[in-house]
Amino acid sequence: MSENSEKKKTRFAWGELFAFYRGEFTRLYVSLAATLGSSAMVLLIPLVVGYLVDDVLLNQGASVLPAIFGRFFGHIGDRAYLLQNLWVFGAIILGLYALDGMFSYLNNARITRFAETGALNMRLRLFSHLQRLPFAYHKQAQTGDLVQRCTTDVDQIRRFFQMQLSEMVRCLALVVIATVMMFRLDTKMALVAIASTPILFVSSWIYFKKRRYAFRVWDEAEGVISTVLQENITGVRVVRAFDRTDFEIEKFAVHNNALNRVAKEQFRIMGDFWMASDLLAFSQLAAVIIVGAIEAIDGNISLGTLLIFISYSENLIFPLRGLARLLADAGKMQISFDRLKEILDEKPEPGDEDLLDPVLKGQVEFDRVDFAYPDDPRPVLKDVSFDIRPGQTLGILGPTGSGKSSLLQLLQRLYEPTNGSIRFDGIPATEISRESLRRQIGLILQEPFVYSRTIMENIRMPRPQASDTDVKNQAKTARLHREIQQFEDGYETMVGERGVTLSGGQKQRLTIARALIRTCPIIVFDDSLSAVDMETDREIRRAMRRSGGSITTFIVSHRISTLMHADRIIVLSEGKVAESGTHGTLLENNGLYRRVYDIQRAYLEEDA
Ligand SMILES: Nc1ncnc2c1ncn2[C@@H]1O[C@H](COP(=O)(O)OP(=O)(O)OP(=O)(O)O)[C@@H](O)[C@H]1O
Ligand SMILES: [Mg+2]
Repeated sequence: MSENSEKKKTRFAWGELFAFYRGEFTRLYVSLAATLGSSAMVLLIPLVVGYLVDDVLLNQGASVLPAIFGRFFGHIGDRAYLLQNLWVFGAIILGLYALDGMFSYLNNARITRFAETGALNMRLRLFSHLQRLPFAYHKQAQTGDLVQRCTTDVDQIRRFFQMQLSEMVRCLALVVIATVMMFRLDTKMALVAIASTPILFVSSWIYFKKRRYAFRVWDEAEGVISTVLQENITGVRVVRAFDRTDFEIEKFAVHNNALNRVAKEQFRIMGDFWMASDLLAFSQLAAVIIVGAIEAIDGNISLGTLLIFISYSENLIFPLRGLARLLADAGKMQISFDRLKEILDEKPEPGDEDLLDPVLKGQVEFDRVDFAYPDDPRPVLKDVSFDIRPGQTLGILGPTGSGKSSLLQLLQRLYEPTNGSIRFDGIPATEISRESLRRQIGLILQEPFVYSRTIMENIRMPRPQASDTDVKNQAKTARLHREIQQFEDGYETMVGERGVTLSGGQKQRLTIARALIRTCPIIVFDDSLSAVDMETDREIRRAMRRSGGSITTFIVSHRISTLMHADRIIVLSEGKVAESGTHGTLLENNGLYRRVYDIQRAYLEEDA
């Protein structure tokens, strides 16, 4: 991502942004045209009033308004007729208001669809892109930040298109048309009317620039609060267990006060600005009224012109003041889209559609494999070699951090070895598609993950067409069935964040059942039975042997009892294979395996 932040200064990618709105542009054009229509109605009304006053009521001779007005009203009737039928003006003004309303409605309906569709497309693209990003990306990305980008930032863009864009077009139209009209009517009065507008615009522009910076400070203060909150809520057990409640509350209070200070400061600046700019806007309006009145009394302008100027000044000053805010909002929208683009610009895993999809038998060979994580030069695996045949079990023992989980991740090509090769049935892993490997290798991760769904759905996840009986059979194999039956809703019990909390061991067994449902030729347990008691551990392995038969199995465990029946056991130490053999030969070796065995021996007697 750092590479992307350097590119910040480059031009905004409008093309990429608008690509999300493909097929929706008619809606946008209609909505913008409706906005222009509604602005035109708003500006027509003062002209009608001006005509009524100057040309009908006062009959001032040469009309200041464009000739088209005269022609239009001429069609309805002459001055005498109009004087007798003043309701005509009321009806016309009412009609203009009605048209204004219709245009606004049309604008709203179209632009809402436009904005929503774009947001929908963005969320979909982001979601599917995130699914295809390499494992390494997700390892380093911060979930909270990603979630925020997919929700808040998308919403910022949606809001811009739904509300602010039309508002901007409307303000611009009002300002431009009003200014042009005023200059046509009377240059001197027009100059008075626009006298303070540059100051008004520039000052609000500066203000919103400043506020953007202040908003970032606010954002950061809020970010700190969320982090503290999140840590405390997820870690509430630790906080309580270590009796740190008071300390944490105090810590929270400090951050909360900081946020409060920032917010107060913000509102103070905001209040000052609005007050000052209101003062300026109303002084401007007062100037137009006073100068206009003097001019009208002196006979330099007509009464109708004065009325038009007063009304147009309002239509100039307030939109102009709002325009700066809208431009700042456009800036925020751009920042949001840049943040989305940072995700979208991340390279997905290389496509491997043209790679092989063989039916694996289960033979796996590591040939002098070296491995280091990307962005980290420390070697994690060094010269690891072994070979296991279909249906065999490979046990892996090793101290924490010795590279066991890393080795297992290479199997599914979540990462690639830096040296050496991995082969399945003699085929180099690099020639087999990742999709094929991930489908055929059941990986049960060290930290079990439970979706916020029912138990049934959780187990069925990898094979949606599995029958209820299949699911129950796998739950039986994983020794979970009986416990599930004791839940009130059985297999329909909701688990995860919004449901029942499962124990660590229950979660592990749930993920085991989920891995078994897909009858893979290769199955991998990364310490997946650590939270299960030894008795259950043994039962699960027995049940698997009965139902599995020829499944090639990798088992990482710290328990000798789990590993001892494996066809082959390797002991990893600092990324190297320190020992390798069967339970019997390793005991004779007098190495690490033997030492662990001696410590655990007491429990083993019955299992042997
Ligand atoms: N995503 C990662 N990026 C960089 N280094 C990592 C990453 N994951 C693990 N490591 C490092 O690789 C080494 C091996 O870690 P690994 O998770 O494979 O150990 P392990 O044998 O599974 O340990 P444990 O028994 O605690 O699960 C450790 O030094 C660890 O710090
Ligand atoms: Mg591990």
